[in-house]
Amino acid sequence: MSNSSPAILPSTDRADVTARLRDALLAASFTADGLLELLGAPAYAALARSETVPALRATRGDTPLETLVRLLLLQQPVPHARVAGVLPVDACVDAGWLLRTGEDEVAATVDVRPYGGPGGEDWFIVSDLGCAVGGAGGIGSPEEDVVLGVGGASTTLAGITVRTPVGSALDLGTGSGIQALHAAQHATRVTATDVNPRALHITALTLALSGAPAADLRPGSLFEPVRDDETYDLIVSNPPFVISPGARLTYRDGGMGGDDLCRALVQQAGERLNQGGFAQFLANWQHVEGEDWQDRLRSWVPRGCDAWIVQREVQDVMQYAELWLRDAGDHRRDAAEYQARYDAWLDEFEARKVRAVGFGWIALHRTDAAEPSITVEEWPHPVEQPLGDTVRAHFDRIDYLRAHDDAALLAGHFRLAAEVVQEQVGLPGAEDPEHVVLRQNRGMRRATRVDTVGAGFAGVCDGTLTAGRILDAIAQLVGEDPVMLRDRTPAQIRLLVEQGFLEPAR
Ligand SMILES: C[S@@+](CC[C@H](N)C(=O)[O-])C[C@H]1O[C@@H](n2cnc3c(N)ncnc32)[C@H](O)[C@@H]1O
Repeated sequence: MSNSSPAILPSTDRADVTARLRDALLAASFTADGLLELLGAPAYAALARSETVPALRATRGDTPLETLVRLLLLQQPVPHARVAGVLPVDACVDAGWLLRTGEDEVAATVDVRPYGGPGGEDWFIVSDLGCAVGGAGGIGSPEEDVVLGVGGASTTLAGITVRTPVGSALDLGTGSGIQALHAAQHATRVTATDVNPRALHITALTLALSGAPAADLRPGSLFEPVRDDETYDLIVSNPPFVISPGARLTYRDGGMGGDDLCRALVQQAGERLNQGGFAQFLANWQHVEGEDWQDRLRSWVPRGCDAWIVQREVQDVMQYAELWLRDAGDHRRDAAEYQARYDAWLDEFEARKVRAVGFGWIALHRTDAAEPSITVEEWPHPVEQPLGDTVRAHFDRIDYLRAHDDAALLAGHFRLAAEVVQEQVGLPGAEDPEHVVLRQNRGMRRATRVDTVGAGFAGVCDGTLTAGRILDAIAQLVGEDPVMLRDRTPAQIRLLVEQGFLEPAR
């Protein structure tokens, strides 16, 4: 496969042109809301799946917005005169955003896609042509250094990231710059790194075109671009986590063998974090024969850090190989080549005794606590994004629990979290439920089984009485020895607090 860059890129030195382009895009309502209105929800959703036919049908007119959708999203050549009515076309050609194609036509050199920020900001994500969403499967022959736009993994990471104001943030493997763009809203200083120089160039374009402050852009692998004396309040990375037989596509294949790249990232992040800082990653990990996957992940957590690791999905090795073969568009090319690549993937897994691959989130919080807390769990159910506040609250509760022994817990006050409901599960018509479940309707949307004491306790928690007083009252009601109840219930309270059903009230 060729190693060369797919195309020329717009200049990062023409701030004047970038600003004029941004103004023109906004004036034509080339925004997430504008697109939704023009295309309608189904065609807009189809576009997000890399399907362009519905959008082509919806942009047969010649309004400024239709012109921009054809030019920048659908990457069609458009008559020069038509573009001139919408954009400073000659300046854009001069600065490399557009290219003269036929006699009287121009075409885009990069994909420019509107992206709505969490506060309603109108942002733009720049990426290589044909690589706006999903994988590189949409383009004819993916080059090694293509830079992808926003995919599901990008928005997942952006959604789970803790967004408290911080001094410094590091986006490792910045790609199109989406994580750096989010971080620029709440970090005074943003450093973005990538092993692919094209990605750094594209990140500079994304930030400038979105009207965000520039980031400190540094080339290099993993933490190499970070100086020994540099530490951060926030580190985020949506790394090239794909476990594959060889480094083929820089945006996804870490090239370190197995899940070594993810492990190295997590292990090395600890010493790069300031005290109180967070590091958040997406990752894939191997399920190896004869090994507990949770132990594997626990062993990655660096010293001084609490960790919360959530496995969101597990795929067997065949599903996994097929997923990434399709991502690269291999299924649409030569059948023999497809089979050879599939075979190589299975050989690789066989050699490593890998039976399945887990996908999920890894969050570290540097506390330097003497007894770090490491939670590794499986939660494949739907959650409510954004989860940044939920992640921060999880670590706050872990701190609280560490600082409170059982006696202190019983002297504490708790409040039932918002939107927790009780469900009774049992056979229809039965007098008593078989069991009672507490369910969160927000955040992680967890559900947990409780006994009658747990359910009664949670129901009374409004912050007024101490946990001990509530238990004494329950003991009287159910005719149980209050001392016994105080003895056996703290473990259940701990779990309800850890999982966010109960919140410390004061
Ligand atoms: C999956 S993309 C993520 C891009 C973007 N941050 C996002 O969230 O959409 C992974 C990025 O990591 C970069 N990368 C690959 N290997 C790397 C390494 N060893 N060190 C740093 N970055 C790397 C790739 O070039 C690519 O831009």
